[in-house]
Amino acid sequence: MNHAVWSFACFCLFEAVSLEIFSLDGEWKLLNSNSSVSVSAEVPGCVHTALQRQGFISDPYYRFNDLNYRWISLDNWTYTTSFSVRGKGKAVLVFEGVDTISTVSLNGVIIGKTDNMFRRYDFEVTGLLKDQENVLQVWIMSAVTYASQRSRAHTEYRVPPDCPPPVQKGECHVNFIRKAQSSFSWDWGPSFPTLGIWKGVRLEVFNTLRVLSFTTVPKYDSGNSSWNVEVELFFDVVVASKALVLMSIPLLHSEEFHLSLTPGQSRKSFVLQINQSVSLWWPFGHGEQPLYELEIQINMEGGETFNAQRKVAFRTVELIQEPIPSSPGLSFYFQINGRPIFLKGSNWIPVHAFQDQVTTDMITVLLRSAQKANMNALRVWGGGVYEQDLFYSLCDMYGIMIWQDFMFACALYPTEKNFIQTVREEVTQQVRRLKSHPSVVIWSGNNENEAAIAADWFNISAAERPLYVRDYVSLYVENIRDLVLQEDGTRPFLVSSPTNGVESEKEGWVAHDPYDPHYGDTHYYSYYNDCWNWTAFPRTRFASEYGFQSWPSFSTLSKVSVTSDWDFSSNFSSHRQHHEDGNQQMLKQAELHYILPNRSDPVQRYRDTIYITQVMQAQCVKIQTEFYRRSRSDIVEGKGHTMGTLYWQLNDIWQGPSWSSVEFGGKWKMLHYWATDFYAPVLSAAVEDEGDLLIYAVSDRHSECHKVKAKVKFYSWSSFDAVCSLESNVTTLKAGGSTLVFQHPISALLEQCGNCTRRSCVVTFHLSSPEGQMISPLNHIFLSSPRHAEGVQKPDITFTVKDAGIVQSFVVTLHCSFPAVYVWLDVDDIPGHFNVNGFLMLSNTSTVTFGAWRPTTAEEITANLHITSLRDVY
Ligand SMILES: *[C@@H]1O[C@H](CO)[C@@H](O)[C@H](O)[C@H]1NC(C)=O
Ligand SMILES: *[C@@H]1O[C@H](CO)[C@@H](O)[C@H](O)[C@H]1NC(C)=O
Ligand SMILES: *[C@@H]1O[C@H](CO)[C@@H](O)[C@H](O)[C@H]1NC(C)=O
Ligand SMILES: *[C@@H]1O[C@H](CO)[C@@H](O)[C@H](O)[C@H]1NC(C)=O
Ligand SMILES: *[C@@H]1O[C@H](CO)[C@@H](O)[C@H](O)[C@H]1NC(C)=O
Ligand SMILES: *[C@@H]1O[C@H](CO)[C@@H](O)[C@H](O)[C@H]1NC(C)=O
Ligand SMILES: *[C@@H]1O[C@H](CO)[C@@H](O)[C@H](O)[C@H]1NC(C)=O
Ligand SMILES: *[C@@H]1O[C@H](CO)[C@@H](O)[C@H](O)[C@H]1NC(C)=O
Ligand SMILES: *[C@@H]1O[C@H](CO)[C@@H](O)[C@H](O)[C@H]1NC(C)=O
Ligand SMILES: *[C@@H]1O[C@H](CO)[C@@H](O)[C@H](O)[C@H]1NC(C)=O
Repeated sequence: MNHAVWSFACFCLFEAVSLEIFSLDGEWKLLNSNSSVSVSAEVPGCVHTALQRQGFISDPYYRFNDLNYRWISLDNWTYTTSFSVRGKGKAVLVFEGVDTISTVSLNGVIIGKTDNMFRRYDFEVTGLLKDQENVLQVWIMSAVTYASQRSRAHTEYRVPPDCPPPVQKGECHVNFIRKAQSSFSWDWGPSFPTLGIWKGVRLEVFNTLRVLSFTTVPKYDSGNSSWNVEVELFFDVVVASKALVLMSIPLLHSEEFHLSLTPGQSRKSFVLQINQSVSLWWPFGHGEQPLYELEIQINMEGGETFNAQRKVAFRTVELIQEPIPSSPGLSFYFQINGRPIFLKGSNWIPVHAFQDQVTTDMITVLLRSAQKANMNALRVWGGGVYEQDLFYSLCDMYGIMIWQDFMFACALYPTEKNFIQTVREEVTQQVRRLKSHPSVVIWSGNNENEAAIAADWFNISAAERPLYVRDYVSLYVENIRDLVLQEDGTRPFLVSSPTNGVESEKEGWVAHDPYDPHYGDTHYYSYYNDCWNWTAFPRTRFASEYGFQSWPSFSTLSKVSVTSDWDFSSNFSSHRQHHEDGNQQMLKQAELHYILPNRSDPVQRYRDTIYITQVMQAQCVKIQTEFYRRSRSDIVEGKGHTMGTLYWQLNDIWQGPSWSSVEFGGKWKMLHYWATDFYAPVLSAAVEDEGDLLIYAVSDRHSECHKVKAKVKFYSWSSFDAVCSLESNVTTLKAGGSTLVFQHPISALLEQCGNCTRRSCVVTFHLSSPEGQMISPLNHIFLSSPRHAEGVQKPDITFTVKDAGIVQSFVVTLHCSFPAVYVWLDVDDIPGHFNVNGFLMLSNTSTVTFGAWRPTTAEEITANLHITSLRDVY
């Protein structure tokens, strides 16, 4: 993958001569509370990582190790380092991130405490430094113990939930600690309540001043159609000084400002009035992502100079909530640069339980995968972490819009003074860190906490409810919302997700029904209802969460399991499943349409079962997503105008079953391949409605397409020749809209096709331009469940692999004797992805390419390639 991206990451430090920066990253000593464990530990890092690297424990993700290593999180730990420094002046120890509850001492003197992993802490240590050896110690208290103590101390009323459901095997009271909420377990992840110094530590020594941070926010002035770039610099000043500040965006603007600074912390704002036209930044699929470089130079009167650069991009964002003709409620859609944009994407969770182990490659692979699947948006979900700078810089480059939650999820939260205080600092810091990124298009206060009160998840009596609503409003509205609006006037703010938006506000911020499809966004899950029944889905304005579980591939699972685990009813299979009845739900849903695997070899049957869960997941999410995309122009019974689909969830935190489309390690599940098609810029989607076959053309393009036809073919399961071919009348595809292009009774079509029945045939279709070009991916629809299909034969798929003559690219040629469905190619551990996968094979030969992410050979691929189709598993 591309490593050059580092140059785009923002390092907000200014380099200058009078400021000396001593990094304290590297090897520290680590000790548990009774000194029975003493190892060296890397900073940034965490206790689990250190113990694993030193061979004290094995892979925490292996089999049942999350339970075996629970003791680590129940102990308290001390990190120690020593250092010597030269340099005189004001000295500040900067901790970019401590996880979480700690007491920091230097040479035996306590210099500060931390209680929030999402904050940076600066501790002044002027006068405490020795010329020779300095000893820095960070004592970290068990987050589990701390959370439990805080909960017990909260005696006036309970703040639920107390504990996660037993199936999650997690820890209790995570809502009492400002730490990744999923670290105490989630329904897709293990409980690893980490402890550590998860970001860098440094000592800054300076005589005049240092720059704490700076922000750059372009603002559009519609009055004179021009852009102002608001730049803010945050200083920590020792002696009063004057400076000349030069700011320039090459070829666009340059300007000088005089600055005079007085001792203390100060915030200076500048406005660059851009008097030329700029190239606008667009979401992926809608235009380019031009990034300009803003350069700042601060020339101090005394001759010192500070320099920094930052990428800036120009775009506007609005969230439109206004009446819609013939529909009660309000619209809910994003407008970028004045144009309505349909958000296509998914939800982002932490990439690893041990954040220090997240690499540039992991983030790059995931974001590239999102973009390759035609996604233009991701929601950074509120139960994890505010992502690292690199993540947002890549999203700026790739055109991926970010819906940024604040880190509160599925719980009520305390609101005592010190809790609110630390949250306020967290919010201020995070908004200042992230608001310069064009990719961030919305702030959102929390995940599902409005719904938790409205739908009474926690058995709160009517009499107590006002108390909880008051706390809710205090935390998310009076504190977080107010702060965000003060710090950033350029983006919409939503209090929760799902929410009814302005309607929730009218109802006192907790709506009667935050899932109301007439307003705002919704989350919707239903596992036992037949997912092929699209009429059951809420025709929402914006689907910000929905999805189905599947199991990750055998090669991913086999890294953390042994032969006896490779059975769907093993202890391992139930242990990894953190969602109540999750494994049963997958099989029940799959069984509605597929014959469940029953090959006699147990490992083969296990692999096949994994496969069938991925088939089910891909098919279900496809049907649901196509329904939402079709609904963008429709109002049916007052509902519709859907303008966003963010399925749950993009990525995984470990090797376990979940709703993800990309496995831990970066391997694509079938769903991810399918997303590439169902998120295509122009989509043709079919549906059966009251006996009719309907084909819609959905377009994200900015202009109309004229004289488009849908081409429709019927194939029988026993032959590669189309039984019949049809065409729709020519139609005009709406720009940014959905158009019905084909509608016929299925009975009439079957009659016309002579030899077809619902069970013996499958229907394929795509859109074609007047010149005969395919303008949407080839799609298909079944007229009956594959489990009832008639005439299906074993396809006997064989293959050959050849080097494609392009670096790390290979061609797989497939042959089959009969049509095959859900044809799945799996190369085990060889990282990379195919151009298509999980496809319908309707010719006896077809080729697929594989792009590897590391050097490999045709022989290695041949040796590892497994091909499965639906008919192979029973
Ligand atoms: C010291 O702590 C470890 C880890 O928590 C524990 O396993 C061990 O029993 C303790 N030893 C004593 C003597 O308390
Ligand atoms: C960790 O520290 C807390 C607070 O001092 C204390 O209550 C707890 O007993 C300590 N745990 C261990 C294992 O020493
Ligand atoms: C545009 O701004 C530049 C400074 O970047 C200035 O030199 C120039 O005079 C301005 N032009 C107009 C027409 O205002
Ligand atoms: C545009 O108008 C704003 C005030 O409405 C003013 O501050 C700004 O200087 C104007 N920009 C240009 C380029 O004239
Ligand atoms: C809900 O609360 C009521 C009283 O407030 C109690 O009687 C009932 O057992 C609780 N139900 C659950 C499921 O906790
Ligand atoms: C489909 O879902 C709708 C709405 O939930 C329900 O009324 C209908 O019975 C379902 N149809 C089938 C065939 O299950
Ligand atoms: C599975 O777990 C149960 C209950 O914890 C235990 O009794 C049994 O021995 C385990 N079986 C295997 C094969 O590990
Ligand atoms: C084409 O349009 C005519 C007239 O509106 C209609 O009768 C016919 O069914 C249409 N054909 C198709 C394939 O949709
Ligand atoms: C219809 O099916 C029969 C039996 O499968 C076959 O013999 C015949 O050739 C088919 N006719 C057409 C028109 O495809
Ligand atoms: C597997 O299921 C298929 C379809 O139900 C059935 O025909 C076959 O006999 C079964 N095989 C075994 C080994 O149970």
